[in-house]
Amino acid sequence: MKVIFVCLGNICRSPMAEAMFYQLLVTNHLTDQVSVSSRATSSKEEGNRPHPGTRQILEEHHLDDRGHRSTPIKRQDFYDADLIIGMDDMNMHHLRAIAPKGEQDKVRAINDLTPGHQGEPIPDPWYTLRFDDTYNSLKRALPYWLDYVKERLD
Ligand code: 4NP
Repeated sequence: MKVIFVCLGNICRSPMAEAMFYQLLVTNHLTDQVSVSSRATSSKEEGNRPHPGTRQILEEHHLDDRGHRSTPIKRQDFYDADLIIGMDDMNMHHLRAIAPKGEQDKVRAINDLTPGHQGEPIPDPWYTLRFDDTYNSLKRALPYWLDYVKERLD
């Protein structure tokens, strides 16, 4: 099973989600069965490392960005992935516009499964510099995706 988190630049929110979800996979002994990565809807930051604010939050929580570099999403990703999770309405709009027919159901919003928070975006720290808000929002949402993935293994 393959999960891809997506945001606009792939330097703030989605690499943070990737690192946090990877840690959930490690603690649940699922790294053999589930892979996680992240992508951008734009090519603006292509090749760049995660934002210093994201790197600092990851470091504070003893998480590793695994050498991530910003990578625009491409058509093949929609076929390769089982789940493609966007961080806000703009990401969702973009993903739905470029998802090939037949792969649309893989595209989900980050808070689709979060009780009481459906439809809410993950705050973009590019504008607010509130990387802790981003971390806390992801921390609340990601366990529901872990359960979702677990239920669909084998
Ligand atoms: P991200 O944040 O989508 O969470 O990685 C942003 C990164 C770059 C830009 C906007 C948001 N930008 O405009 O370059």
